[in-house]
Amino acid sequence: MATLPEIASVRTSLNEAEVEHLLRLLASWSLLSDLSFSDMLLLAPSVGHAGVHDDPFVVLAQVRPNNRATLISDDLVGTIQEASLWPSLRQSLSSGVVVRDQVMMEELGEAVPVWYIPVTFDGRVISILVRVQGPLRGPASLYEQAYLNIFERLSTMVTESSFPFRESEVAGPGMPRVGDGIILIDQRGLVEFATPNATNALHRLGLYAATEGRSLRDLGLRVRVVERALEFGLPSMEEVDRGAEVAILFHCVPLIEGAATTGVVVLMRDVTDVRRLNRLVLSKEAAIKEVHHRVKNNLQTISSLLRLQARRSDDGDSRTALLEAERRIRSIAVVHEVLSREPGEVVDFAEIVGSIVTMVEDSIVVEHPVEIMVEGELGNLSTDIATPLAVALAELLTNAVEHAFVEFGDRGDVGIVTLQLTRQQNLAELVIRDNGRGLPADFSLELPTSLGLSIVRDLIRNQLHGTIEMRNGEEMGAYVNVRVPTLDGRL
Ligand SMILES: Nc1ncnc2c1ncn2[C@@H]1O[C@H](COP(=O)(O)OP(=O)(O)OP(=O)(O)O)[C@@H](O)[C@H]1O
Ligand SMILES: [Mg+2]
Repeated sequence: MATLPEIASVRTSLNEAEVEHLLRLLASWSLLSDLSFSDMLLLAPSVGHAGVHDDPFVVLAQVRPNNRATLISDDLVGTIQEASLWPSLRQSLSSGVVVRDQVMMEELGEAVPVWYIPVTFDGRVISILVRVQGPLRGPASLYEQAYLNIFERLSTMVTESSFPFRESEVAGPGMPRVGDGIILIDQRGLVEFATPNATNALHRLGLYAATEGRSLRDLGLRVRVVERALEFGLPSMEEVDRGAEVAILFHCVPLIEGAATTGVVVLMRDVTDVRRLNRLVLSKEAAIKEVHHRVKNNLQTISSLLRLQARRSDDGDSRTALLEAERRIRSIAVVHEVLSREPGEVVDFAEIVGSIVTMVEDSIVVEHPVEIMVEGELGNLSTDIATPLAVALAELLTNAVEHAFVEFGDRGDVGIVTLQLTRQQNLAELVIRDNGRGLPADFSLELPTSLGLSIVRDLIRNQLHGTIEMRNGEEMGAYVNVRVPTLDGRL
């Protein structure tokens, strides 16, 4: 289906500002349709039909009421309607006033009341809002009368070009619907009428007194936007809460006649459920944080137990093994620590790098000073990637600190380990270099030897589907290059 601007540019001579005015009208005309229990069409004189159509109008938009059956089941948007089909259409276009008439509805087999409401903008009638009213069945109820009264006043505003409002706040899909509850407030700020749903909403706010003839303020309800609408003729909305239980959105539409504000329509919507949902999402986030926090605590407990056990062990080898297991568990805890602060699908890897570096610096005791320098960062990584990568990184940095500088002894040289991090679109790259003695002559990454590198190999290749290369650097020391795809793609 073509949009209003598209139809307008092809079929009419409306300019941009006029089209925008009509779009603003469209944003809130569902309200007009519901208040009048009517189908509505927006028509504008159509151009470029020389000789084909007599007096053509194009249908720019169509809306059906939510509170009664439609009378127009066809989609008329974009169709050409000759003026003769809609008697009085022309008259209303040239006079600029609302004309009431009747039109024969084929579908119904009877004539129904029709209103032609000229849409005025910048002193010119740019379009006609056609209200096709359902046949009247019996006298209108009190609240139907109230709706129609509001509708009439809004129609006058359309012809006086004070509706739709220029302010965007009232237009838009968030606009409450008529059925949610309406309060009509008169010029003096007193409640003229409240629909049953509006009364229910007031009850939920703790207001049980009769409302008619009293101001909301006297009733103990301070809604600034109502006062603002009355005083300045400005539409706006405000949420009124009662504790955490109830939240009602008040949407105020000033009724304007000439230059005077003659009343305010307050559309109410109970947004309690929406707010509750928001709170639920927030508390779920808190729960996830808590879970990460506990996982981290548990991992720290395990690592303390291992440390204790290591201290008690007389055998050097088993002590080293226990201490290493302890360190590995702590590097996993680091990731949960970060997630307990900022839970989500992704985690800022820079924070993890910071913690891992501190951990490696702390846990290795050597006679000579070692400095770990970090360049660049990987940005956000999915937690699925961050955890194994953090463990692998901890292993590689530990290796450098542990093995590269054994010959430094107490020569006073400073061991330097650099970690270079680069992130391309779908690739995270880590380069670890040291200025130590380099890898042993018989070193091969492929030999299933020691535990540390076996873990790294498994994590990088099998779990992260990445690559790892280990060799000696150009001048000295070891060079390790790790590349890991960061999307689902494989390297
Ligand atoms: N940066 C490095 N400089 C020099 N040698 C290294 C370096 N990284 C690793 N190596 C050598 O590779 C070997 C294998 O490392 P790996 O991490 O698998 O075992 P490990 O560190 O000896 O024991 P662990 O299982 O506790 O990690 C090391 O023993 C060491 O000889
Ligand atoms: Mg190792």
